[in-house]
Amino acid sequence: MGQPGRLIAFEGIDGCGKSTQARALADRLGARLTFEPGATPLGASLRTLLLTPGDDAPRERAEALMMAADRAQHVATVIDPCLARGEWVVTDRYGASTLAYQGFGRGLDHNELDSLVAWATGGRWPDLTIFLDVPVEVARERRSGQAADRFEGEAGSFLERVAEGYRTLAKGSTGVDWLVLDGTLSEDEVQRLIVAGLVERWGDELQERGFDR
Ligand code: TYD
Repeated sequence: MGQPGRLIAFEGIDGCGKSTQARALADRLGARLTFEPGATPLGASLRTLLLTPGDDAPRERAEALMMAADRAQHVATVIDPCLARGEWVVTDRYGASTLAYQGFGRGLDHNELDSLVAWATGGRWPDLTIFLDVPVEVARERRSGQAADRFEGEAGSFLERVAEGYRTLAKGSTGVDWLVLDGTLSEDEVQRLIVAGLVERWGDELQERGFDR
């Protein structure tokens, strides 16, 4: 068996530009592009239940467990098989979303969520987590005109807590490799910084894989 692939996760609040950057990077790397929540058939059902507003929407702990179930299925049926085949995987959101949204946003206990994420993923952590940091007002401006899901419909203070949570996580997490970038820069500039970050970490490996900067 050859070398296993690498897992790169994009994180940030809605409207930070991560979906665009994730797609561009996956194209460039010839990597598998995926996302959470909802990338598997089970996950698609969970996503509908998670994002639909209403009286019957999941409460905090149910929400955290459903995000974990989505991720467990995602890892078992998409991410781990790709990595085992030597493919690189780029995911739009991963475990840090649960720590930021359910932890800092909803106020659930950080250590408990950390254990939940570790358990759901069988300890599969990203090789690199790229956080695109943008002020909440910028993200909101970029999303104006688009329909809001249940998370985007939350009060402004919720997203502020999530954004601040990401900043805290990126500073404090040991054993997790974070690349923090200013998401207000141009699309091209952000992509350039991402590629530079990858080359700095895995220049030889990327060259072996025929990666063209
Ligand atoms: P996403 O599909 O990234 O939203 P969008 O495409 O609108 O940017 O994610 C949907 C929502 O799910 C998003 O508001 C963040 C939330 N979320 C959590 O609260 N916890 C999690 O663990 C994940 C993966 C997502």
